[in-house]
Amino acid sequence: MPLRIIRNDITRVKADAIVNAANSQLRAGGGVCGAIFAAAGEAELSQACRAIGYCPPGQAVITPGFQLPAKFVIHAVGPVWQGGQHGERELLANCYQAALELALAHRLRSIAFPLISTGIYGYPKAEALQVAIRVIGAFLLEHDMTVTLVVYDGASFAISEKLFSSIAAYIDDRYLDEHPDRRRYRQMESFELSESMAEPIDMMMSQVKASRSLDDLVKHPDETFSQMLLRLIDEKGLTDAVVYKRANIDRRHFSKIRGDIQYQAKKATALALAIALELNLDETRDLLARAGYALSRSSKMDIIIEYFLTEGNHNIFEINEALFAFDQPLLGA
Ligand code: APR
Repeated sequence: MPLRIIRNDITRVKADAIVNAANSQLRAGGGVCGAIFAAAGEAELSQACRAIGYCPPGQAVITPGFQLPAKFVIHAVGPVWQGGQHGERELLANCYQAALELALAHRLRSIAFPLISTGIYGYPKAEALQVAIRVIGAFLLEHDMTVTLVVYDGASFAISEKLFSSIAAYIDDRYLDEHPDRRRYRQMESFELSESMAEPIDMMMSQVKASRSLDDLVKHPDETFSQMLLRLIDEKGLTDAVVYKRANIDRRHFSKIRGDIQYQAKKATALALAIALELNLDETRDLLARAGYALSRSSKMDIIIEYFLTEGNHNIFEINEALFAFDQPLLGA
């Protein structure tokens, strides 16, 4: 999966490079910086940093990883938060970009980032996360690399409060869990609704849906998941590379899907591809059905995806950011 988000200690992450939230003097500090120096071997890493000397905010430099499982450490200097009116956002974006470009220049295939500036430097976490996802997401639409965003503790991962509460309300309205009280409540609710407007509307909706699916079925009765996917890519005038990058899946995985008419896609892969194709909710249901799946009201993951589809937001990286915040599996490979 090109972009993963995990909870871990970054010094344990196996990647070609891990990124250090560094200071301009490149000295061993506290926070993630202290942990990286300690795990790499403080004397060796300090010596390598002294040889470089200085790195301005918004830039990045590279050293070996010494005792770390990662081969390299990319030291990226984030901005100190001063209220948000001092170019902090741009500097933070620049330092993610600089680290990614350095990894590219060294032909690295994988890189892991902490949430730069969100500790001692005081950058608000939700806003820093948005910057990270935006820069990494844009980079991954152009390049093949595996990027891991490493979150150290639950509290340090927050999506914007507005988005979180809007998704939470959406889930709350739709989620059918197995608790008997909740089911009874839902039954009562649907009973009240069916007495009034809900039934005719539901009937109308199911007729519209049925005719759409019928139409599709008549035109392409025996189409498999893989065939439907490839047809939609052609119809939308997209390239394979655009689709697999937007789906957060890697090239090899996509080649397997392309090469096997009977490919058995996992649900997360089918959903990721529906998002990459910018399908609406009904079209997503059709594509999922070809892989043998349906969107379920007893899956929080499905409801969150439904939320983004109805919002017309097909940015897989933002969707994964939200899935992670709600402890759900991420989309992609
Ligand atoms: N693994 C992953 N993430 C970690 C780890 C770890 N082992 N330890 C801390 N973090 C997280 C923090 O929870 C925070 O969200 O890294 C994020 C960045 O926090 P800091 O390390 O404080 O970095 P930053 O805010 O960029 O401040 C940089 O601190 O250590 C000094 O030398 C460094 O002066 C520089 C300043």
